[in-house]
Amino acid sequence: MRTDHLVLYHNIDQVLTLEGVAKKEGRHTTESDLGLIENANIVVNSETNEIEWIGPSKFMPLEYGEIVNAYAGSEELWIPELVECHTHLVHAGDRSHDYALRVKGKTYQEIAEEGGGIATTLKAIRETPLMNMVSNAQAELERFQRYGVGTIEVKSGYGLTLESECRMLEAVRALQETSGVNLVPTFLPAHMTPPEFKGRTDEYVEVICREWIPEVSRLKLARFFDVFIEEGFFNLAQTKKLLECALAAGFSLKLHADQFTDLGGVELGVKLGATSIDHLEQISEKGINALANSKTVGVLCPGASLFTGTAYAPARKLLDAGARIAISTDFNPGTCPSRNLPLMTTIACSQMQMTVPESLAAITYNAAAALGLEKELGTLEKGKQFRVCHLSQTSYESLPYCFGEFN
Ligand code: NIG
Ligand code: FE
Repeated sequence: MRTDHLVLYHNIDQVLTLEGVAKKEGRHTTESDLGLIENANIVVNSETNEIEWIGPSKFMPLEYGEIVNAYAGSEELWIPELVECHTHLVHAGDRSHDYALRVKGKTYQEIAEEGGGIATTLKAIRETPLMNMVSNAQAELERFQRYGVGTIEVKSGYGLTLESECRMLEAVRALQETSGVNLVPTFLPAHMTPPEFKGRTDEYVEVICREWIPEVSRLKLARFFDVFIEEGFFNLAQTKKLLECALAAGFSLKLHADQFTDLGGVELGVKLGATSIDHLEQISEKGINALANSKTVGVLCPGASLFTGTAYAPARKLLDAGARIAISTDFNPGTCPSRNLPLMTTIACSQMQMTVPESLAAITYNAAAALGLEKELGTLEKGKQFRVCHLSQTSYESLPYCFGEFN
């Protein structure tokens, strides 16, 4: 047997495969789904970076014993590399004043109505050259990597002209060329109505559908299309028009829904087969049912609730109903300027009654599913990408326990 393309990692103290999580499509996760292997071996095809064999070292087929590129494991715990499925990584300017205003009692929407919020970042991004966008985002990416993240979704949404939205997405493309992190770009032109279209949101939606969606699709700058459905931003009819148009142009769908107000976005997103619907703080019973009976992943953003001092999503109800739940930082300058994905599991466990195994599945397999990548990422199984996160602790339970620290 040819073994020169294979690499063997042997006698790794502990590996969590999360095999059972994948079998159950990320629903109703319990500790027994985490697939703990003690004294594990992993054989990797270095040409494809795919796992060829994984299991207890004593069961490894004899022929793999001939592999020359072999590395002994250490006293570590290996888990699937973390997946961050919702960020506004590319941004510019400073929003600390928004936070000071919120602490004094102003709401997110009031700040936006007064010209702050997303509009502040928009002004800064429009003045930022591509090169600076790339270098700022590179620095942010490195911060995410320090928390075990190896795949990350990145949205546009702060340019809100075709030219500046494309510049944001080109920054993501440029970053992908130099970074070992997997980047997943999302086109988010409906983040707010830009100043040029003030009071004319229907017209703005029309322009996005007629000109922007075809152009971004032609340039292949994004895999996903996203809308912020919210009072004062985009209503249900506008969201429906945008999502249908993006779907027809070949985009997969995401949605920011029910963050502050339930406008029926979840039911719409599920009907259109959205890959994920994110936020869900105000989701209704009907919405919970619709989501739980679908393949659509619900992405929760505990950091955004903590930081804005607003309600948490009803995680327990969603999980008990059988929904596939992922957790994200929602890293952005307005509602969660944190890159600490493991910390989000602490908030989810302490404030949203999630269990530790559920929270681990939520930043690995289910987060990969929120990006349509669960066949390649999120668990350590034969045929999956060899992307691992090394923990120095002896138990996976340390992930939320360490409370803001990592490794
Ligand atoms: O996911 N809610 C809308 N979008 C972001 C916040 C963007 C911003 O305030 O800059 C979010 O929370
Ligand atoms: Fe967001």
